Amino acid sequence: MESVSALIRVSLPNYLKNLPIPDSVSGIASLSGQDWLSLVPFVGTVSLIVYVTVQAFKPKVEKKNFPVNLKIQKENAKVVNMVDIEDLGDKVSYCRCWLSKKFPLCDGSHNKHNDEMGDNVGPLVLKRKEPSK
Ligand code: FES
Repeated sequence: MESVSALIRVSLPNYLKNLPIPDSVSGIASLSGQDWLSLVPFVGTVSLIVYVTVQAFKPKVEKKNFPVNLKIQKENAKVVNMVDIEDLGDKVSYCRCWLSKKFPLCDGSHNKHNDEMGDNVGPLVLKRKEPSK
């Protein structure tokens, strides 16, 4: 127990006192390669402690099955949309996020969803190929 006490009371403060921690942000630029190397164990240990602490207190997210479609044609067992190829026009965007008020067409609702959720969903864009000249 004495060795642990000495480690905490003497060795650790001496170690921390000798770390080349700059006094200002601009002092970071003046650190030598040797200074950076001597900071690696300290930064690594602090990072590990922070990571373990965050993991220990992070709320556990229970993964459950959840529906993708929250509101479109819920009265139907399956949402199926049929479109004749001849009716597509030159370009059409179909919703893949299930949030469009014009479903099955994209109305841009995916943009708000992506901003709020950090997601990256987007439409399926069908475009008529330009005739080659
Ligand atoms: S609104 Fe759903 S992909 Fe654009």
